[in-house]
Amino acid sequence: MKVTIAITALLQLVTADTLVNVLTGANETTLLSLVTSVPTVLTALQTFNGTLFAPTNDALAATVNAGFNASDLTALANVLEYHAVPGTPFSGANFTGSAFLTTLQKNPVEAVAVSSGIQIHSAFGTPAANVVKSLPYDGGYIHIIDQTLIPPANIVDVATAANLTALLTALTSAGLATTVAGLSNVTILAPTNAAFEAIASVAENLTTDQIKTILLTHIVPGIVYSTDIITAKSLPKVNTLSNQTLSIQFNGTNVLISGAGNKSPATVLVADVLADKIVVHVIDTVLLPNLTATAVSPTPTKATSSAVGITVGLVAAVVASYFL
Ligand SMILES: *[C@@H]1O[C@H](CO)[C@@H](O)[C@H](O)[C@H]1NC(C)=O
Ligand SMILES: *[C@@H]1O[C@H](CO)[C@@H](O)[C@H](O)[C@H]1NC(C)=O
Ligand SMILES: *[C@@H]1O[C@H](CO)[C@@H](O)[C@H](O)[C@H]1NC(C)=O
Ligand SMILES: *[C@@H]1O[C@H](CO)[C@@H](O)[C@H](O)[C@H]1NC(C)=O
Ligand SMILES: *[C@@H]1O[C@H](CO)[C@@H](O)[C@H](O)[C@H]1NC(C)=O
Ligand SMILES: *[C@@H]1O[C@H](CO)[C@@H](O)[C@H](O)[C@H]1NC(C)=O
Ligand SMILES: *[C@@H]1O[C@H](CO)[C@@H](O)[C@H](O)[C@H]1NC(C)=O
Ligand SMILES: *[C@@H]1O[C@H](CO)[C@@H](O)[C@H](O)[C@H]1NC(C)=O
Ligand SMILES: *[C@@H]1O[C@H](CO)[C@@H](O)[C@H](O)[C@H]1NC(C)=O
Ligand SMILES: *[C@@H]1O[C@H](CO)[C@@H](O)[C@H](O)[C@H]1NC(C)=O
Repeated sequence: MKVTIAITALLQLVTADTLVNVLTGANETTLLSLVTSVPTVLTALQTFNGTLFAPTNDALAATVNAGFNASDLTALANVLEYHAVPGTPFSGANFTGSAFLTTLQKNPVEAVAVSSGIQIHSAFGTPAANVVKSLPYDGGYIHIIDQTLIPPANIVDVATAANLTALLTALTSAGLATTVAGLSNVTILAPTNAAFEAIASVAENLTTDQIKTILLTHIVPGIVYSTDIITAKSLPKVNTLSNQTLSIQFNGTNVLISGAGNKSPATVLVADVLADKIVVHVIDTVLLPNLTATAVSPTPTKATSSAVGITVGLVAAVVASYFL
């Protein structure tokens, strides 16, 4: 009898409670009430296995006070789903470095080990959330956090907020604004304004098609985080949307990226800026493809004065690029 009671008590210790019960016990009343107002999210969480980041009542109140409209159920569902990471639970135990965790909302959050514990990063420009307490539940872990996580904004808003205005202007002038606004599941290598200024004199003699090729050389299909590059150490032939390849290396300190036309590589200045379904790395040099290769095909049937102009511009660009 005594043995049975002892075993039952032990089982209760190791068998965690349901998600809702643990949230209730943690006084997560605001989160529970918001979840209850979105039936699809409530249903998903009732059988959810994985990691839930649970902002405190104060954190959620601050988000509403800052202007978030919790009555807009689409926006609310988006924010709530951004707090849930399905799959192998992230316990946070013995965690070092950083990791990107893909949420139910489809965008990732970044967990970063800091001296005080674990921080969770969300949209560009929003404060990092600190994990203040971690609690197991029967499907994984709940981490109580002191800030609401905000899903990444669209690429145009993020680029504007990150002061990547020369890039946006160049994309618009080259007729690529709509293309870029419609992108997802890509990595954008985004030169700073200063990087564009450095090639301004070269760029003035390039055709729109050449500028398009240069700009599309900054977009890589798929999501490549800085941690992927650091782990791999070298990605020698990364294809881009211009069909030109890039060479990407981690030199032990910095991530360096070169196009075929760059004399010295670009350095990543700010890694892993999150935009909606896109990751951005800010770089200090415009990536230059091999413009000679692009000019060779297709061969113009007739040498026109504009073709001569292109060739002169190309030679100037390729020559100048070796001095960048
Ligand atoms: C969560 O795990 C439980 C137990 O393994 C399983 O019965 C349930 O179907 C899982 N839920 C989902 C949404 O996969
Ligand atoms: C629960 O949270 C509310 C609102 O933030 C607070 O007023 C209350 O004191 C908390 N209760 C406990 C037991 O921590
Ligand atoms: C909040 O969202 C609801 C539902 O979409 C809408 O009816 C209401 O006007 C919004 N309130 C504000 C202040 O925008
Ligand atoms: C964390 O590290 C401690 C001691 O270093 C070890 O006992 C424990 O098993 C580790 N936990 C996990 C989840 O790896
Ligand atoms: C944005 O870029 C412009 C032009 O390069 C620069 O003058 C300005 O200081 C930058 N602003 C910020 C906030 O970095
Ligand atoms: C651009 O073309 C003009 C006119 O042909 C020429 O004077 C100028 O040197 C060229 N600029 C560069 C950077 O090649
Ligand atoms: C994202 O792009 C990569 C590379 O093109 C591809 O392998 C992957 O299947 C894509 N993922 C999604 C969810 O579309
Ligand atoms: C890149 O190559 C693919 C397949 O060969 C082709 O469909 C696409 O149009 C090319 N894109 C550019 C910008 O040249
Ligand atoms: C890595 O590249 C950066 C930027 O070019 C440079 O400052 C640094 O010295 C390099 N580090 C090593 C170990 O080569
Ligand atoms: C650029 O392409 C041309 C033509 O395909 C080739 O001859 C040249 O070696 C390439 N240059 C570089 C730097 O890759």
